Amino acid sequence: MYPETIYLDNAATSFPKPPEVIHAMLEDYKRFGVSPGRGSYDLAVRAEELVNGIRRQVTDFFSGYDPNRVIFSYNATDALNTLILGLAEPGIHVISSRLEHNSVLRPLHHLREHGIISLDLVPFDSQGFIDPDDVKKAINPKTSLVIINHASNVMGTIQPVQEIGRICHEQSVAFAIDVSQSAGIIPVDMKSWHVDAIAFTGHKSLLGPTGIGGLALRDGLDIPASRFGGTGVDSYSLFQTSDYPYRLEAGTINVLGIIGLSAGLAHISQVGIENIYRHEMDLLNKLRDRLSALKRLRLYCCDSLINHLPLLTLNIEGMNPADLGAILDGDFNISVRTGLHCAPLVHEDLGTTPHGSVRFSLGLFNTEEHIVAVEKAFKTILE
Ligand SMILES: Cc1ncc(COP(=O)(O)O)c(C=O)c1O
Repeated sequence: MYPETIYLDNAATSFPKPPEVIHAMLEDYKRFGVSPGRGSYDLAVRAEELVNGIRRQVTDFFSGYDPNRVIFSYNATDALNTLILGLAEPGIHVISSRLEHNSVLRPLHHLREHGIISLDLVPFDSQGFIDPDDVKKAINPKTSLVIINHASNVMGTIQPVQEIGRICHEQSVAFAIDVSQSAGIIPVDMKSWHVDAIAFTGHKSLLGPTGIGGLALRDGLDIPASRFGGTGVDSYSLFQTSDYPYRLEAGTINVLGIIGLSAGLAHISQVGIENIYRHEMDLLNKLRDRLSALKRLRLYCCDSLINHLPLLTLNIEGMNPADLGAILDGDFNISVRTGLHCAPLVHEDLGTTPHGSVRFSLGLFNTEEHIVAVEKAFKTILE
């Protein structure tokens, strides 16, 4: 990164990473960078122990169930495909929402188009929240999965998943949440929220590198494998092993990424998740207040910043968001994300299709000077 770049695209991926994460990745990979669980030599056993320790760390972080039910994947998209395709028995009904990212919408759409599932997508209100009652009303005798984006990557609104979890629990419907945006900023509590599965990605606010993500599952939620291959166990059989976590981890896992994820989680614990949230929301409040005083700006879903993540989506009236992003980048060295943010239905409902909007998302390393620089840039652009 050029020293003067102001990076405000942390909802895409957090950048830069804490030096402690980079350091741990180098040091631990130097010592344990072999294929875990595939050999009986000492180093392979120690690498397996390291990875299993990190499964425990992930379980604790999400107040999950069993470390063996933590499945490592490439990212949230990969984890969500494993979950959705694995659970898609012909004839089932699935409930999701119009707030979802394409990593949920596309596998569900694919299954519906092929006549495998039926699907209902619940709406969100003018402030970006789902009504749990809409989920309740959509449940029918064939419903076997409700899958909801915990926090919108376009509007930043945090959804009432505790309430939805309670409804699903009462109706014996599996409940999954996509915590790609929330994990690492606000605590996630699988057990007390009655969540059966979470899908996470390591490279956003969990502060790890790209290429690592995963699932944490409740014991008893069985996910058949939808990919097959080497696991290091039951190798005599041509059937995929049914043992967790290996049944859903075909092929050699990403040891370097898992080490980075672990270091990211450790960093969050050290700084304190509530301190991270306070810091980033303090900056968001300042950004919102400074920008909302400007004319011709349209801010989306941030009248109240309660139950909100540190991200802000906006447009300048009469200006293509791609042009605004290019000017912020080219003239002011401010990196933001423009367009549809892989959440096309959100933009359809906001009336911002086809060009989308500009998203500012704050991270651990942003400062008040960055907010002042954004305000200055907007004043110049609006002149
Ligand atoms: C809500 C949400 N879900 C899923 C994803 C996909 O994450 P990944 O690209 O790491 O698979 C994202 C990434 O932007 C997201 O914001």
